[in-house]
Amino acid sequence: MRKTASTTVPVHPLLAERWSPRGFDRTHELADDRLTVLLEAARWAPSAQNSQPWRFLVTRRGEPAHDRLFAALAPGNQAWAGAASALVLVAARTAGDDGRPQPWALYDTGQAVAALVTQAQADGLSVHQMGGFEPDAVRAGFGLADTLTPVVVLAIGRPGGAAGLPGPLAERETAPRTRHPVSDLLLPAHPERHPAAA
Ligand SMILES: Cc1cc2nc3c(=O)[nH]c(=O)nc-3n(C[C@H](O)[C@H](O)[C@H](O)COP(=O)(O)O)c2cc1C
Repeated sequence: MRKTASTTVPVHPLLAERWSPRGFDRTHELADDRLTVLLEAARWAPSAQNSQPWRFLVTRRGEPAHDRLFAALAPGNQAWAGAASALVLVAARTAGDDGRPQPWALYDTGQAVAALVTQAQADGLSVHQMGGFEPDAVRAGFGLADTLTPVVVLAIGRPGGAAGLPGPLAERETAPRTRHPVSDLLLPAHPERHPAAA
């Protein structure tokens, strides 16, 4: 299924074609070499002072660690994410060994995920990012260091269509994707002329 972005001007197909499916192919397995490509793409993301604060905990469908990560997902995500080939916990090293906060760690980690997502798109895979999970359960379940902040869980796999999804989710799966117009994203360069600018 395609859900191409309706853009006002052409953008690169990798960006226009990317979307976040809930329907994944349960028979697909994520081979080591394909996973390596995704992590390599993330690895080469830019970061403040080249600090590379992103960390990935990879679990595959059928593994005990996968069950543990799945159990930490919000119920609404559990309704579909188990069909994906892998669930990957993304964490950011938000504090150094000396405890000092790393102010760009979350930003940098988001960039690494964006690179991973784009590489997945190029490889015929899909990624659905999830903020709906219990960070404390993940922290305890995987013994994460205090310097790490759990950020998102990624469902990665081959898109499988809406057929296997429960009713309301199937509807969302086929609904068009929407975005604010670019004009809403622009801040005025001269705020004194636009006192209400937010
Ligand atoms: C940080 C983040 C958290 C998200 N959390 C969830 C989530 O918990 N459950 C879910 O179904 N989708 C989640 N999404 C997916 C967004 O809803 C989705 O990206 C957005 O609706 C735009 O749709 P598109 O990715 O298909 O363009 C999340 C996306 C991001 C980037």
